[in-house]
Amino acid sequence: MILSRYLVCLTVVLFVFSQQAIARVEYQDSLSVTRGAELSLYAEDNETNCLVCHGKLIYTLTDTVMGMTRKQLMSGQNLIMPGMFYNSVHWSFSCLDCHSEEFRIFPHSIEARFETSWGCIDCHGYDPNYEQYGFEEIDAEYQKSVHYTATDGLITCWKCHDPHYYTPLARQTQGGREYILRSNEMCLRCHSNANVMGLITDENVDIVLPKHEWLPDVDRHLEAVRCIDCHTRMNDSVLVAHEVMPADSAVRGCADCHSQNSILMGTLYKYAAMESRDEKGFVNGVILRNDSYVIGANRSKLISFAGLLIIGMTLAFALVHTIFRIVIKPREHVHE
Ligand code: HEC
Ligand code: HEC
Ligand code: HEC
Ligand code: HEC
Ligand code: HEC
Ligand code: HEC
Ligand code: HEC
Repeated sequence: MILSRYLVCLTVVLFVFSQQAIARVEYQDSLSVTRGAELSLYAEDNETNCLVCHGKLIYTLTDTVMGMTRKQLMSGQNLIMPGMFYNSVHWSFSCLDCHSEEFRIFPHSIEARFETSWGCIDCHGYDPNYEQYGFEEIDAEYQKSVHYTATDGLITCWKCHDPHYYTPLARQTQGGREYILRSNEMCLRCHSNANVMGLITDENVDIVLPKHEWLPDVDRHLEAVRCIDCHTRMNDSVLVAHEVMPADSAVRGCADCHSQNSILMGTLYKYAAMESRDEKGFVNGVILRNDSYVIGANRSKLISFAGLLIIGMTLAFALVHTIFRIVIKPREHVHE
């Protein structure tokens, strides 16, 4: 009887582990593409057509009629770092897959400058190869976000996801500091920079830090959680929720994070949590991998067990003691 129950338990445990192992392999495979300029079919074309100017700080301006040349500085905004480009998910592209042929001509024409860019969904939507990312759902969420509604769609996916350097960070880290920093930089590129913000709105909305001073040790909090952990509506069907809500709906309850069912397990640590539920024997143990100790959200099972053991032993002792008293005392009464 006991043996059969034990076997059932063991089977269930093995099944769960094997499922987790499968899930892990799928995610790793999706990013195992080897990248690099050496492997790109277009590296040479890209270099001669575009990167000869855009890939360097200094490019050469030529006047073919007069046969003169002069060195010019490429502005930082138009500089594309080749190393980072060939390491991004779109490393295998030609520049002209996304940009109009017109850009072959310099100075670039007005038509070229007003080209309409492809959106992520044009290429990735409803493609079973990319199902795990949930592009359609992300697109639907994005269209409900303040960024879309307040700006008439001026903030496209590309404004957060750099067209030349993008890689899906959330799947490549366990939620560490470096990742949080890079994720938050995506937001601060606008929300701490009046010039970039000025390209989109005339309103004075670039300075956000003072609005966060209700958090104790603000800097430390903003290094330990992502902006989107507080500002998006939680969503179980995609890894990264994209519905950025108006500020008055943002998370501000301390217990939302500082508790055992911390929202962080469904946001920041979602990917890590999907991979391992029980790291280091702690409840919400994955948080600790990020050098964070979130008061109230982390609890050691070992310590809890030791606690229970002590309470249990005390109760047992009290029980035995009581029984002895009941058994022994009446006899003493009899003797009196
Ligand atoms: C002779 C150097 C040179 C070459 C070659 C060149 N560009 Fe440019 N490009 C520039 C400079 C300088 C600017 C910034 C000044 C400007 O906008 O004219 C620029 C601007 C741009 C812009 C921004 C336009 C805007 O209005 O913001 C894009 C996009 C661009 N180039 C794409 C390309 C692509 C794609 C190629 C290759 C097919 C290419 N360029 C080839 C020098 C070059
Ligand atoms: C996956 C598509 C894609 C590829 C590949 C691509 N670009 Fe772009 N590029 C874009 C988009 C989209 C924008 C406009 C970004 C925005 O709206 O802010 C852009 C903007 C630019 C700009 C203007 C500055 C900026 O970053 O906004 C330059 C310059 C540029 N691209 C050059 C290149 C060169 C050179 C290559 C090849 C090495 C290249 N692009 C490859 C999609 C791409
Ligand atoms: C012009 C079509 C096109 C556009 C636009 C485009 N992609 Fe891609 N994307 C591709 C192709 C093709 C690949 C596969 C590249 C390869 O590995 O050779 C890819 C690869 C990827 C991958 C890696 C997928 C995997 O599992 O290996 C991600 C993630 C991704 N794109 C996200 C985006 C996002 C986010 C956007 C918009 C910001 C976007 N893409 C826009 C065509 C596109
Ligand atoms: C306001 C900024 C912002 C906009 C706009 C935005 N994203 Fe994102 N997106 C993020 C952040 C932050 C992450 C998390 C960082 C990461 O993992 O790269 C993310 C992650 C992703 C991922 C990776 C999710 C995964 O499962 O690994 C995809 C795919 C994606 N976004 C697609 C899109 C598409 C498609 C659009 C446009 C419809 C879009 N994003 C618009 C900020 C934005
Ligand atoms: C391309 C620039 C840009 C980027 C990148 C960007 N934002 Fe915004 N954000 C804006 C603009 C513009 C508004 C609308 C301001 C207005 O007119 O109210 C806005 C509005 C908001 C609001 C609503 C503010 C309110 O008053 O209700 C929040 C919250 C917000 N952004 C958070 C984020 C987060 C989180 C990220 C990163 C995932 C991000 N933003 C990335 C430009 C940007
Ligand atoms: C711990 C949760 C939390 C985090 C993390 C957080 N915010 Fe906020 N944020 C809030 C709350 C709550 C408000 C509303 C404050 C108010 O109205 O007094 C707010 C306000 C804002 C506003 C509106 C500002 C205005 O002028 O009205 C923007 C924009 C914003 N945050 C962007 C960001 C960005 C960008 C980051 C990441 C660097 C970030 N937030 C990180 C909770 C958070
Ligand atoms: C979005 C989630 C989130 C919210 C909301 C949040 N915290 Fe935190 N808090 C964290 C994380 C993550 C850390 C761990 C920081 C670290 O390890 O560096 C932390 C750390 C702390 C610390 C320790 C900081 C230190 O200097 O040692 C205190 C105290 C704290 N939070 C108090 C609060 C209070 C009070 C509130 C509400 C006003 C609050 N937190 C809201 C996520 C949150």
